Amino acid sequence: MHLIRRDPTAGSRRTLWRFGYSARLLKTNHSRTAASNTSFPAVWMLLAQHPGRIPGLSAVAQKASFCTMRETVEDNADPELYSPHPEVRGMTLLNREAFKRTVVVPVLKVKKEIVHTLMKSLKHAVLRRPGLKRVIEDPGDEGSKLVILDPHKVPEFSLGQAEQEVLKQLNIPPEVSRYNLELTYENFKSEEILRAVLPEGQDVASGFSRVGHIAHFNLRDHQLPYRHLIGQVIIDKNPGITCVVNKTSIIDSTYRNFEMEVLAGESNLVTKVKENNISYDLDFAKVYWNPRLSTEHGRIVELLKPGDVLFDVFAGIGPFAIPAAKKKCVVFANDLNPESYKWLLHNCKLNKVDNKIKAFNLDGRDFLLGPVREELSKALALEKEEQKPAVHIVMNLPASALEFLDVFRHLLVGEPCSAAVLPTVHCYGFSKHENPAKEIQERAEASLGASLDGRCSTYLVRNVAPNKEMLCISFQVPADVLYKRPCPAEEKPASKRLRTNKDFTEEKLAS
Ligand SMILES: C[S@@+](CC[C@H](N)C(=O)[O-])C[C@H]1O[C@@H](n2cnc3c(N)ncnc32)[C@H](O)[C@@H]1O
Repeated sequence: MHLIRRDPTAGSRRTLWRFGYSARLLKTNHSRTAASNTSFPAVWMLLAQHPGRIPGLSAVAQKASFCTMRETVEDNADPELYSPHPEVRGMTLLNREAFKRTVVVPVLKVKKEIVHTLMKSLKHAVLRRPGLKRVIEDPGDEGSKLVILDPHKVPEFSLGQAEQEVLKQLNIPPEVSRYNLELTYENFKSEEILRAVLPEGQDVASGFSRVGHIAHFNLRDHQLPYRHLIGQVIIDKNPGITCVVNKTSIIDSTYRNFEMEVLAGESNLVTKVKENNISYDLDFAKVYWNPRLSTEHGRIVELLKPGDVLFDVFAGIGPFAIPAAKKKCVVFANDLNPESYKWLLHNCKLNKVDNKIKAFNLDGRDFLLGPVREELSKALALEKEEQKPAVHIVMNLPASALEFLDVFRHLLVGEPCSAAVLPTVHCYGFSKHENPAKEIQERAEASLGASLDGRCSTYLVRNVAPNKEMLCISFQVPADVLYKRPCPAEEKPASKRLRTNKDFTEEKLAS
């Protein structure tokens, strides 16, 4: 989001103010470009015209010949263009009219015929604000227009050398006038509006996730009294967003969705999203969807080759499964949430891969012990080594997927397959540990009952919260774990005491 930038010329203006130029500024209507002694930012003028609004300003105006400007007034000077009327502070019901304020800006009077040419040459100096016309009618002259300049680019109403040169070439008098410009709600950005409304010095709610037509917030306590206003501002300022929701509980339900309150707009939470060029429909109130996982979905799908087999144990609405099927993989996708399963089937049809994906609505453990075991046995029992497909098993349920890994212990019986075709697991986990990769590996080892030293890689997916990371550990399930009979070809790693799930539970309780 946009951040308010400080004007680099503020320091020099401060000095000039101290030397008493304010009186001249208040009287002057025009300033020649060469007249650098009318050296004040236009936006200050209005403050001086309405001194009652700024404590201390009237005293300053009276002592115009020499004074020290209060720091607070100086700080107010620059951002006027970027801050709505101060009276909106604390507003909880959106009143768009109250945001109006008038600022004084520099304008150039230009003959109608050459406005276009001038705009091209002077575009960097022209005022840009959302929804603001940069060229307006000249009320006093039908044959001319007024071009609104940015007071920060034309400080103190004084055009720089380059601008003067442009004007000279176009035969335009280098005369900058002051113009009372009314800024309205439409001319402010959402962050500027929220910064003006919410308590001073506290975080404004500017960051949200977008899921189709829905903006999804996770508001803090101090922002809650303003939540409906925040919702409306976000709808007003973001084309395409027609519904704003706030998370009202932490994400701990079985199905990884969360309770939410509609703050503004329509209550329809069925939406359409596009990720890595694939469209999905979903009901945001009932299924899990996180737009921050698109890179990770893409990363895993990138590892797959046509003909590979993918088992997606916690598939959601299909962001691994559907692109994999599109890539001509054989896909088995599962989710326990009946709503996710329903949308998974819907999205398979939507993307015309319903004949390439077999979908299940089972607990992950039952899926692994049932369909996965059956299909794995078949695939790995194929006679010729080269017929055996590469098998990937994705387990994206970071809060608990690592605890499902014990299912792989002796999942298959018989003669172990060659190491090359052992299935590869991509299992996700959260960690708050100072060495998250080490901790995730230890937890995976505890579940599997085998060391993964030198046989796994961990990938940092994203930072979920301060000190909380989401990781993906990938490894081929060791043959001596997967098969009931130990594989003689596989060398046992140097013995080390593996921590068990019980150890982790006890550690958690102790801390
Ligand atoms: C973090 S989401 C991941 C969804 C999807 N793979 C993605 O990347 O967007 C985890 C999914 O696991 C499902 N789930 C939760 N517990 C489950 C379980 N015991 N067995 C199967 N699925 C489960 C939830 O319904 C949810 O859709």
